[in-house]
Amino acid sequence: MAQSRTAVGFGKTTRRDAWWLELIPVVIVLGAFSVYATVRAFEGAYYEWGPYLSPFYSPLIDAHHRWWPFSPAILILGGPLGFRATCYYYRKAYYRAFFLDPPACAVGESRPHRYSGETRFPFILQNLHRYFLYLALIFLIILWYDAVRAFWFDGRLGIGVGSLVLLANIVLLSLYTFSCHSLRHIVGGKVDCFSCVTFGGPRHAAWRGTSFLNEHHMLFAWLSLCSVGLADFYIRLVATGTILDLRLL
Ligand code: FES
Repeated sequence: MAQSRTAVGFGKTTRRDAWWLELIPVVIVLGAFSVYATVRAFEGAYYEWGPYLSPFYSPLIDAHHRWWPFSPAILILGGPLGFRATCYYYRKAYYRAFFLDPPACAVGESRPHRYSGETRFPFILQNLHRYFLYLALIFLIILWYDAVRAFWFDGRLGIGVGSLVLLANIVLLSLYTFSCHSLRHIVGGKVDCFSCVTFGGPRHAAWRGTSFLNEHHMLFAWLSLCSVGLADFYIRLVATGTILDLRLL
């Protein structure tokens, strides 16, 4: 039964399930990733080894500090960060888990009368998501290049555990990007009649593909978040000499 928003106070609800349980993994995983990524981005070291380059530092710009005295990761951080921060799924997740605004569906929020959606600063900036998507597609090409390069050791084809780690990461990042709501809209979400528009057939096929992936966007969001962090962590371990990269070929 629908309930009046004004009739409930913060955290009040008629729901009987443990709605708050789903906030806990978001706080833990997203919180831990944010802290780790920030520390690593500012560390400015141990981001490459052999043919491996950490995704936090790719594309690598001014690694020798000719004109940029700080960590090279800071120069490129805005692209992936903006893409994730404005993602429709993550917005829902962190509005609930960190702002408790609202904490969950049909659960009272703290400021029920001041809701203005995303029409005012700073949240109006969330509408830049489409433009961050264009940037993300460029990053994707660069990271695919890095993943392929990770199979190239001293001019020869080879396979190390790091090669597979970077390959798994870029596959998950591609699934995350190609399941994006904005991308689905761009390729065909606003078309009413595919047979009436230019390239209607290919657009319909692309729309069906993105629609299929889009159903799993939340899963890809989490898997790719973990894979980026783990890929960087693996390269850091190898670069610091903590572990040896196992060569499989
Ligand atoms: Fe999540 Fe676009 S909606 S990446």
